[in-house]
Amino acid sequence: MNPFKVLGYEGPEYFCNREVETEALVQNMLNGRNTVVYGWRRLGKSALIMHVLEKLKKKGFASVYVDLYGSNRIQEANELIADAIVKGGFNKKKGLAQSITQLIGSLGATLSFDSYTAMPKLSFGINNTRTQNSEQHLGSLINYLKEQHQNVVVVLDEFQSITEYKDKINPEATFRSIMQQNPQVRFIYSGSNRHLMMSMFSDSNRPFYSSCSHLSIEAIHLDDYTKFIQKWMKKGGLSIEKQHIEKIYQWANGQTFYVQLVCNMLYNRAENVTNENLMETCGKCIEQQSSYFQNIHGLLTHKQQQIMEAIAKETVVDAPTSHAFITKYGLGAASSVTRAMNSLEQKTLIIKTPEGYRLHDALLSRWYERM
Ligand SMILES: Nc1ncnc2c1ncn2[C@@H]1O[C@H](COP(=O)(O)OP(=O)(O)O)[C@@H](O)[C@H]1O
Ligand SMILES: [Mg+2]
Repeated sequence: MNPFKVLGYEGPEYFCNREVETEALVQNMLNGRNTVVYGWRRLGKSALIMHVLEKLKKKGFASVYVDLYGSNRIQEANELIADAIVKGGFNKKKGLAQSITQLIGSLGATLSFDSYTAMPKLSFGINNTRTQNSEQHLGSLINYLKEQHQNVVVVLDEFQSITEYKDKINPEATFRSIMQQNPQVRFIYSGSNRHLMMSMFSDSNRPFYSSCSHLSIEAIHLDDYTKFIQKWMKKGGLSIEKQHIEKIYQWANGQTFYVQLVCNMLYNRAENVTNENLMETCGKCIEQQSSYFQNIHGLLTHKQQQIMEAIAKETVVDAPTSHAFITKYGLGAASSVTRAMNSLEQKTLIIKTPEGYRLHDALLSRWYERM
């Protein structure tokens, strides 16, 4: 079995470090401090939260985890929450059939059981007419949880999605008031758009202002990763030198997912790691994703494509409208560069870091670099 997991969380033994973050989040939950977790994509926010939920479970906490990515309305969020509640078996007190039927009915959903897995499944009508009550429904769902379990954590992952909701009512205010009305329920809001999340929780004129503890997720420290990788390679009878791990880490810009992916593929080769097989493995990683990257590339304007390539070749760019950068890559007028940069930043294809602009996805950056 490959110890380098690339699909979510599979238990504490396969989870590298994050001790400080884990402890902070556990303590926040135990002490009733709702928390916003933010960090760029694929650094390990969701896995950290799973790790924390597992620890909290041992302390008698129940949890509901909902990924809001791609949801467009409060009603859709409700559906996801309801589904998570049903699947999570929040029916200890009165039995599923009795206690939840009423709630499900009020949401305009029907409950069935999957014929293979026997898992409960919710179906919502296509023309759900009850969307106008979505605010109330959200309240009922959270209230239901509160009644079922004394200690419950609700995780709303990719929470920045709500800023795009098409509801007439303000979704931020709605979620905020639900939180306020249910001080017994703990909330974790997590999101991959660092800037959006920060402004949602730190701007004094927005509903969530000053309502939560903040936890910023950065890359796992190289030293911690080195110990973790060497431990598992050794257990598998393989050797990997420190310098190779450093190379992987740099190549992946510390992005957890890609460090895991390369290690997963190296482990699978069942050879001691050398410069040659490492380079080859990194190359394979890029090739595997290349049709996906080609797709992203194809959706950009020519100017945007040029900028992506130029930033990737520099790795990080401090002043993208500087004369030096623009002439080196033949990017044309500074105003058009600014426009294209804004659009790329909005799509989170590029991100602003303390060192300057870089591509959000480390592998996409490597792919562009090869152009
Ligand atoms: N601490 C960790 N140790 C080992 N693997 C991890 C760790 N954190 C995340 N991962 C792996 O990296 C991948 C990306 O993590 P994920 O939690 O999905 O990132 P995010 O939610 O920040 O986008 C996951 O598939 C997971 O397997
Ligand atoms: Mg995630």
